Amino acid sequence: MPVILGIESSCDETSASVCVDGEILSNVIANQTIHEAYGGVVPELASRVHQQNIVPAVQQALLNAKVNKNDVDAVAFTRGPGLLGSLLVGVSFAKAFALAKNIPLIDINHMQAHVLAHFIGDNKPTFPFLCLTVSGGHTQIVLVKDYFDMEVIGQTLDDAAGEAMDKTSKILGLPYPGGPLIDKHARSGNPDAYKFPEPQIPGFDFSFSGLKTSILYFIRDNVAANPDFIQQNLNDICASVEKRIATILLNKLSKAAQAYGIKDIALAGGVSANTGLRQGLLALGEKNCWRCFIPKMEYCTDNAAMIAIAGYYKFLNGEFTSQDVTPLARMPL
Ligand code: KG4
Ligand code: ZN
Repeated sequence: MPVILGIESSCDETSASVCVDGEILSNVIANQTIHEAYGGVVPELASRVHQQNIVPAVQQALLNAKVNKNDVDAVAFTRGPGLLGSLLVGVSFAKAFALAKNIPLIDINHMQAHVLAHFIGDNKPTFPFLCLTVSGGHTQIVLVKDYFDMEVIGQTLDDAAGEAMDKTSKILGLPYPGGPLIDKHARSGNPDAYKFPEPQIPGFDFSFSGLKTSILYFIRDNVAANPDFIQQNLNDICASVEKRIATILLNKLSKAAQAYGIKDIALAGGVSANTGLRQGLLALGEKNCWRCFIPKMEYCTDNAAMIAIAGYYKFLNGEFTSQDVTPLARMPL
């Protein structure tokens, strides 16, 4: 019955989770609201807030799971990719905890963990499956051959899908992070009100920078003609942008599923919380007879439960790391 403490601190969420024998018993997420005033994550502030949050988050996670800190068998932590200063807080905490308790350390790749969030609970995909991982920093189609054998078969050549959401919301004057607000307004809008271009990129790769520019010019020109254009049409603009981003993602995913002959299809990462994308995948899945796997909301955005479950599988393999481990801002899958 291995007891794994998971720690996540790669960006602006400080999170701790306890996993007992492959079951998640707690998942505490401390969000950082300080960045709202700046319209994006300020790395220096993020690491300072992680330092304030990490001990209470771990204490709460242990309390919620009714697990004593002396009963933890291993500490799993996000090694990368992410903001170096933010990662350093989680890595240092994990090392100190492991040293004090004389237990092993398990280093986890954050992007692998987003995929492995699908192994929380009973409804698990079977290998090989495809996972569309869409977050603020990444957009990847991953061929998942085994727990830790993953191949990126398509990725963004410029901006990530979450970045496209966040930048659009900034253009519209909405606060950071914009993705959830685009989602909220889109629910009351007409997705066919405006047509934004779909980039023609070969293979399974993506590009979102052209879309961002076209949204910028579209808003600029319409506001020049009518200063109230955004307020009057906010819901329709959000619905149309969301639909375009979702179709760009799902068209490539369909192409990859067909090329690889795979019918177990998963969504992961912060943008997988998006209602339009989730509904779009389910509709596509029905049409193509796919088994679709969409994470619970609390496992879409950054969380330590996905780190703890990934840690559990590494623990079973006996894959541990040393006290010399350092965080990695960039870390390939
Ligand atoms: O995975 P995540 O929490 O952090 C990174 O590793 O980047 O993803 C954050 C991204 C942000 O761009 C945020 O705007 C987006 O996920 N996001 C959403 C929604 N919820 C979060 N985008 C669209 N609709 C949502 N409901
Ligand atoms: Zn993430």
